Amino acid sequence: MIKAVTGTKDILPADIPRWKYLEETVERVFKNFNYKEIRTPIFEETAIFARGIGEETDIVGKEMYTFTDRSDTSLTLKPEMTAAVVRAYNEHALGAQQPLVKLFYLSPMFRQERPQAGRFRQFHQFGAEAIGSKSPLLDAEMIQMSYEILKSLELKNLTVKINSLGTPETRENYKKLLKIFLEDKKNKLSEDSRRRFETNILRIFDSKVESDQKIIKDAPKLIDHLDDESKKDFEVVKDQLKKSGIPFVIDSALVRGLDYYTKLTFEIDSGSVGAQTALCGGGRYDLLIETLGGKPTPATGFAAGIERILLACENEKSFSIPEPSIDVYLIRIDNELESFVSELAGKLRKENLSVDFDYLQRSVKAQMREANKMKAKYVFFIGGDEYKAGMMNIKNMSTGEEEKISLESIREFVAKINQR
Ligand code: HAM
Repeated sequence: MIKAVTGTKDILPADIPRWKYLEETVERVFKNFNYKEIRTPIFEETAIFARGIGEETDIVGKEMYTFTDRSDTSLTLKPEMTAAVVRAYNEHALGAQQPLVKLFYLSPMFRQERPQAGRFRQFHQFGAEAIGSKSPLLDAEMIQMSYEILKSLELKNLTVKINSLGTPETRENYKKLLKIFLEDKKNKLSEDSRRRFETNILRIFDSKVESDQKIIKDAPKLIDHLDDESKKDFEVVKDQLKKSGIPFVIDSALVRGLDYYTKLTFEIDSGSVGAQTALCGGGRYDLLIETLGGKPTPATGFAAGIERILLACENEKSFSIPEPSIDVYLIRIDNELESFVSELAGKLRKENLSVDFDYLQRSVKAQMREANKMKAKYVFFIGGDEYKAGMMNIKNMSTGEEEKISLESIREFVAKINQR
């Protein structure tokens, strides 16, 4: 038997109600903050991500699903949405229609990472991007929205971590300081970090190697060397979070795994998902629009991993979904009434009721079992003497009450059900 590819997962019918509940919650919150949905293709030209996310990042360096198509174009399955959204923003000049464009999305993403609990090769993100304003209030809004979504899903074990990476000039100055600090410790760094020392020194903060972490923990902190504007903006974000009652910690090592960030970065971690703790992450990216060929335009955003959030919800037993049910199950007492039952089901479905019946010629007892399994609200018994007299028996499955109605008056009965 051929199985699903490692790191991918089927979302089976039994899982769907939880996904739908999450998606509805996400859409409700985004609507309240006036974000409009955007959908972009599953693949893009590789350059969008290579340039956008940064050549030296793990995503671009090791994790992208990149292939050449029959016209020799290098394409990549999207590993994240931000660069794709910015490509669409530039291509359709969305900023010309509106100075601030607030977008949200829900989409599968692809990264060839080592699969483990909460980490997949095809996973799903929801997220938002606000393009066109420098206001730190929008950075705070990203945290408020993601926090509100996670709280609406009744998650408890959350930590909001924030940091500021400053402007590019601040960062260049800081990189020099970091270089001086690491110069005589360079040989003790892991091979990856030694390479990053030369190519993209800030990425050393991403290293999971313990010896690297020991060295880097005493390094000067970027947050202590911020320019005035970044410092002021960071204060505004902190102030807004306090005003909205969102607890947070400052994490000076939060450089994030993508190169496009400027100023604010944030993550929300859960203590309920094992090693992969980040439920969502994001921040400001004031240079990306330009990098991808647009006019200089400030922007900020975040994305969250749906599988990971659902795992946290499951581990915390945070919300429960009513079991799926149907309105009516039609039980056929006489087998020859099959076609009549099918016709009746059609009529009831047109009245907007969810209806099912037996297609396997099973006994009345087996049909009743099926009705129970489907949590039918009503069962209609069709056949026997009643049918001959133009009637049928109806059972209300929650009260146990039974009544006889004429086949003629079915419409009135349906209207009654629809009112409840
Ligand atoms: P990211 O931190 O790479 O950011 O991903 C955001 C979230 O996606 C993570 O916190 C995690 O929950 C989920 N995620 C990432 N990789 C995997 C995986 N392999 N399996 C399961 N879940 C995963 C971004 O993608 C940025 N585009 C966020 C952003 C938007 N920044 C500004 N705007």
